[in-house]
Amino acid sequence: LGLLKRVESYVTELLSKKSWSKESLSDVSFSRSSSSCSIATDEGFFEAPEPLASSKVVMEKVLWRRSLQLRDQQRAWQQSSEGREILEFRRSLPAYKEKDAVLSAISQNQVVIISGETGCGKTTQIPQFILESEIESVNGASCSIICTQPRRISAMSVSERVASERGEKLGESVGYKVRLEGVKGRDTRLLFCTTGILLRRLLVDRSLKGVSHVIVDEIHERGMNEDFLLIVLKDLLPRRPELRLILMSATLDAELFASYFGSSQIIYIPGFTYPVRTHFLEDILEGTGYKLTPYNQIDDYGQEKMWKLGKQAPRKRKSQIASVVEDALKAADLEDYSPQTRESLSCWNPDCIGFNFVEYLLCYICENERTGAVLVFMTGWDDISSLKDKLQAHPILGDPTRVMLLACHGSMASSEQRLIFDEPEDGVRKIVLATNIAETSITINDVVFVLDCGKAKETSYDALNNTPCLLPSWISKVSAQQRRGRAGRVQPGECYHLYPRCVYDAFVEYQLPEILRTPLQSLCLQIKSLKLGSISEFLSRALQSPELLAVQNAVEYLKVIGALDENENLTVLGRYLTMLPVEPKLGKMLLLGTILNCLDPVLTVVSGLSVRDPFLTPFDKKDLAEAAKSQFSRDYSDHLALIRAYEGWKNAEREYAGYDYCWKNFLSVQSMKAIDSLRKEFFSLLRDTGLVDSNSTSHSAWSCDEHLIRAVICYGLYPGVCSIVHNEKSVSLKTMEDGQNSVNSREAKIPYPWLVFNEKIKVNSIFLRDSTAVTDSMLLLFGGSISSGDHDGHLKMLGGYLEFFMKPAVAEMYQCMRRELDDLIQNK
Ligand code: CDP
Ligand code: MG
Repeated sequence: LGLLKRVESYVTELLSKKSWSKESLSDVSFSRSSSSCSIATDEGFFEAPEPLASSKVVMEKVLWRRSLQLRDQQRAWQQSSEGREILEFRRSLPAYKEKDAVLSAISQNQVVIISGETGCGKTTQIPQFILESEIESVNGASCSIICTQPRRISAMSVSERVASERGEKLGESVGYKVRLEGVKGRDTRLLFCTTGILLRRLLVDRSLKGVSHVIVDEIHERGMNEDFLLIVLKDLLPRRPELRLILMSATLDAELFASYFGSSQIIYIPGFTYPVRTHFLEDILEGTGYKLTPYNQIDDYGQEKMWKLGKQAPRKRKSQIASVVEDALKAADLEDYSPQTRESLSCWNPDCIGFNFVEYLLCYICENERTGAVLVFMTGWDDISSLKDKLQAHPILGDPTRVMLLACHGSMASSEQRLIFDEPEDGVRKIVLATNIAETSITINDVVFVLDCGKAKETSYDALNNTPCLLPSWISKVSAQQRRGRAGRVQPGECYHLYPRCVYDAFVEYQLPEILRTPLQSLCLQIKSLKLGSISEFLSRALQSPELLAVQNAVEYLKVIGALDENENLTVLGRYLTMLPVEPKLGKMLLLGTILNCLDPVLTVVSGLSVRDPFLTPFDKKDLAEAAKSQFSRDYSDHLALIRAYEGWKNAEREYAGYDYCWKNFLSVQSMKAIDSLRKEFFSLLRDTGLVDSNSTSHSAWSCDEHLIRAVICYGLYPGVCSIVHNEKSVSLKTMEDGQNSVNSREAKIPYPWLVFNEKIKVNSIFLRDSTAVTDSMLLLFGGSISSGDHDGHLKMLGGYLEFFMKPAVAEMYQCMRRELDDLIQNK
């Protein structure tokens, strides 16, 4: 920096002495021969003064010229009237007041941690401060700032915002890059990207050559990718002393990071929010004819404390909101079995009020409350789209002259994104249905009312990108507070938590970091594909390292399924699995489905395993529901049942009868829609990785051999397998590890020897979820590792049950077949 300043002052001096115009300097060039440095102008060469000449830096003329141009552009924009207007807004952000502190901290420390309330301007301002100051000190052309975001959508929307604040189009000095998409130009100095993109860059460029600043945003979320990235960066910092690392977070956990990196500086940006009045469910029910009563529900997975709505004598004079709520609850009456309410009840959880309730509350706010946008936190995209459909049919909420109804989630289109920040016209109320993306990463300015359903889909398993393969679960206290805080940005606000206070009290304080709460298999594969050495050694250096046992389990699992060989090296199969950002078992099914040309039904199975169970069992209609399910699952496979149910829905949907079909068959429309959209997502994943021909479509009618599909399922779910033991009167299942009678089936006789299952849950006894019966040969050919060649181990594992296959001749034949399959996979 100092050197550049000297160059700059030297050039200025030349300019004043020689009365050249700036244009004539367009050919200023610095060339360093053995001992001198010269500056070429239109009029010839000039020797540079001593300190420059002896410098070790070779500066290309292009770089210098470009830096000057960038600075001029920047100054011109800052002085323009539009630029001044934007600057006015930027100055009002709390982050702006810390600008100097931030810049000086960055110049003096290799690691800086910045923490401040959501909306204070971290994401849009801090990277911009760095860029501006680099450009101002004529370093614009040689700096390179990377700012990572946990989600694609924030990378895209923030980059656009920053570009517009700089009076530029996207792709000039500011750009973005997410999987399969990006806008980036030759002059892009500030790049917003997903964490996964930076991790992939590290794969080919271990020392991040040319990068001057790495900013890791939303670090409080403690996603797996971010924790992973930090280990890699921590290794890199000593090797790149000039590289700067800036960590940004919304909630305060700064000390943890500071101690992880040793010497570093923390900067807190003070924020301000207006008070927010909080209503829990019991407050909302106050004065209505309903009250909450606790009861214990015993379901298949044990006991869970639940809450039930009971009746009580309503007050004579009800408040307006109380009557609205009462109407909502009446409309959602459990006894009423019209298709619409059935559907709203499918997401009805006694703790968490259904769609009707949200609709009534929104309507109440629109009709009676002061102006201000409403932000509704929903669990995920499928809920949002169903609710949006429902609201659009509503006379008030669906009327565009009164309500501007928007969705905000990870996969929305960018045109829709921009609307979120727009101010609606007078008299129109903005309602945004959002996932937890609106908690900290996207700030909607004018929110006054927040509705919080209390649940979110955790990214429970995704080492590269955000694939929605998750079940909703309760959020943490910190998240609930964040959601509440969204209501108080512009004026005092109201927050309706749609669950009782005692449920809130039971929330965990912080969400555990993803690395500690999810299976590590995908992460382990990634460590291997990045060639980061021993998995357990690498993970022991994490901010909070997972238990050794969890790591060993993951590695063992990967060996058993054939993704790693005995020496923990990635196999061919393993390499393919790292290309598919899904759980290895799902990845395996997709791969084999592709190879065996039965992808279509496999896509349904894989998607079905990623959404909540589409087969509904309402408390009081259990028998009917089970009867409905049994017509799909006549042949000992939950997965085939799912395929049939989906195909049936798809056919009905073509005749616009999808709703009826689901109603009759006790299926969740939402799950069906979610499966439909996930199928497309998984398919495009396969297409992007080149595993499926780019012109093909997934819809090769489902004429596939059912045995083939069982085999693919077996290939994916192995080693989740147990044997079916026929006793005199009953059937019991023996799992491999336990070797004990663990599950009792009601069936009298099952014409299959094995059952592969998706999940084993231990409560009082063991329950298996999502299983499919398979034959001996399926298990032998598709179970276990195909590519690691561990046939003996595999046989031993089965040995106790399958003596027949231990006979040498049979074993040999078997090995031959395995090898052939092996080749098939390697060559595909
Ligand atoms: O990262 P942090 O939560 O601290 O805030 P930010 O995302 O940098 O946003 C700072 C301000 O810019 C907020 O008040 C937003 O309202 C505004 N903003 C905007 O108007 N449009 C965007 N696309 C992004 C941010
Ligand atoms: Mg931010």
